[in-house]
Amino acid sequence: MARHSKTTNNANDANNSKTARIISVASQKGGVGKTATVTNMAVGLVSLGYKTAVIDMDAQGHIAFSFGIKKADLRKTIYDVLIGEAKMRDIKQTAFGVDLYLSNNSLSNLSPKVMTNLNSKLFPAPKYLLKNALGQIKTQYDYILIDTSPSNDIPTMNSLLASTDIIIPALPEGLSVDGIFDTIYLIKSIQEQGAKINILGILPTMVQDHTNLHNVMLQDLRRRFAETPDIKVFDTVIKRAIRHGLAQTHGEPDINKAPEYLSFVKEVFAIA
Ligand SMILES: Nc1ncnc2c1ncn2[C@@H]1O[C@H](COP(=O)(O)OP(=O)(O)O)[C@@H](O)[C@H]1O
Ligand SMILES: [Mg+2]
Repeated sequence: MARHSKTTNNANDANNSKTARIISVASQKGGVGKTATVTNMAVGLVSLGYKTAVIDMDAQGHIAFSFGIKKADLRKTIYDVLIGEAKMRDIKQTAFGVDLYLSNNSLSNLSPKVMTNLNSKLFPAPKYLLKNALGQIKTQYDYILIDTSPSNDIPTMNSLLASTDIIIPALPEGLSVDGIFDTIYLIKSIQEQGAKINILGILPTMVQDHTNLHNVMLQDLRRRFAETPDIKVFDTVIKRAIRHGLAQTHGEPDINKAPEYLSFVKEVFAIA
């Protein structure tokens, strides 16, 4: 399939100055499929011909794993870029057609490094480090996807403030649904500070549609958000299936094995 960048995505393309849509996949809950969603969306977008990058903003470094790269082998990571000791191009790796800007445990040093009074002159805007770093690459891509951690720490704040859009994955189960509201609350508080971020919607993940619980919870979720014009629950749902997790456990993402994610990217970005 075409690997070249589509020219129809951005209105700006005519004058050759496209700017990527930057999408954080975020939830205050862990284990809801954030990393699986970023990984499968990225290979899905590439299969459709879009130039796509992934940024790992979770210190667990699972994106490296998902694309078959050992995080222990990384010499420089997004952390080095954020603290100004590397450029984005220095850390770029490409796998399965996706440009990767990877992370490992070093990212957990970000907060102590940039939030101390001692360093306040060096890092006057510690929540905007990623936004500034993406300025180095955003004209090169149609889509930049950011994987985040399940907390409202400095890496997550950087991710949200760098984004044009947010996708919230959630299981149709009580605690996960609760996580949606925590995440929306966090994003609203950022929007109130003037950030222009759009919540694209909620993606039901790991759905077991043969269970009554999931069917009832999914209907309930759709009902709850039916009256919220700015937040939708996507029509596409991702079923619980080994194949979605396989990409991660085997480090070989394959959109043919995760066709729901291809439907999902088409739905999200209105691609015919
Ligand atoms: N749709 C799915 N069906 C089955 N397993 C999944 C699915 N999506 C993700 N997984 C698996 O579930 C676990 C948690 O998913 P992950 O994407 O890492 O969540 P998060 O990034 O939100 O913590 C992983 O082991 C992953 O391989
Ligand atoms: Mg993850």
